[in-house]
Amino acid sequence: MDPNAPIGVFDSGLGGLTVARAIRAALPDEQLVYLGDTARVPYGTRSAHTVIRYARSCAAHLERRGIKALVVACNTVSAVALDFLRVELDVPVLGVIEPGARAGVAATRTGKLGVIATRGTIASGAYIRAVASIRSRVEVFGQPAPLLVPLAEEGWITGEVPERAVERYLEPLAAQGVDALVLGCTHYPLLRPVIEAVGQRVLGPSLSLADGAEATAAELAELLEARELRAAGPGGLELLVTDLPDRFAEVASRFLGEDVEEIDVHQVDL
Ligand code: DGL
Repeated sequence: MDPNAPIGVFDSGLGGLTVARAIRAALPDEQLVYLGDTARVPYGTRSAHTVIRYARSCAAHLERRGIKALVVACNTVSAVALDFLRVELDVPVLGVIEPGARAGVAATRTGKLGVIATRGTIASGAYIRAVASIRSRVEVFGQPAPLLVPLAEEGWITGEVPERAVERYLEPLAAQGVDALVLGCTHYPLLRPVIEAVGQRVLGPSLSLADGAEATAAELAELLEARELRAAGPGGLELLVTDLPDRFAEVASRFLGEDVEEIDVHQVDL
């Protein structure tokens, strides 16, 4: 395997650019090919069967581009399709659930860990299984927080509306004594300041947040190091999308944290 081959990253849409952003920060010499399935987003409300079918087509497309590793940036895909992809692909496949679970386990002191994610991710029980395989004495309390996805896409990330939504989602966790919260969805890092402020009010001032995106980038760096697959640079980013929506540049720039006008964007058919 060529260490200078690109790393494939895919998501249901543009939210996974939060993971691409974390990877670019941790591994600036790597070339990334990011595929956002913007024609079929969202995945979080769909059945596991459909998500697996979509995930297979995204992964196959990236594999044909000669990637050296695949990062599944989408929590919903990581929750239901990771095992299929690991069997089918000839390159290492990293999801966001295991790194997120590890970060969550490291963050809790009471052993009561909250996870907010899409309905599909929570329903799959993937975080419960991942946490149990790391430390059996940590209890997981999952809470679907679907409205936070369109809020992040709209850029509605401060003020009364996101605060009220976050409050409604976190209130059920208050009775459980949760002291750490995993942001188990690509979109939630954009709402981190609101989730942190409201979370500390609703769940207690010592609440800490665990971000799956940063933890995934750190695990990817370890994986590449262990397999001697670190690229020599220069790093870069190519964006592939299955549909080019009107506000693409604005929304993508928000998730990536940099101007996408400067980045190569191509539309592909899967
Ligand atoms: N990418 C999805 C996730 O992280 C959120 C958006 C969607 O529902 O497709 O679960």
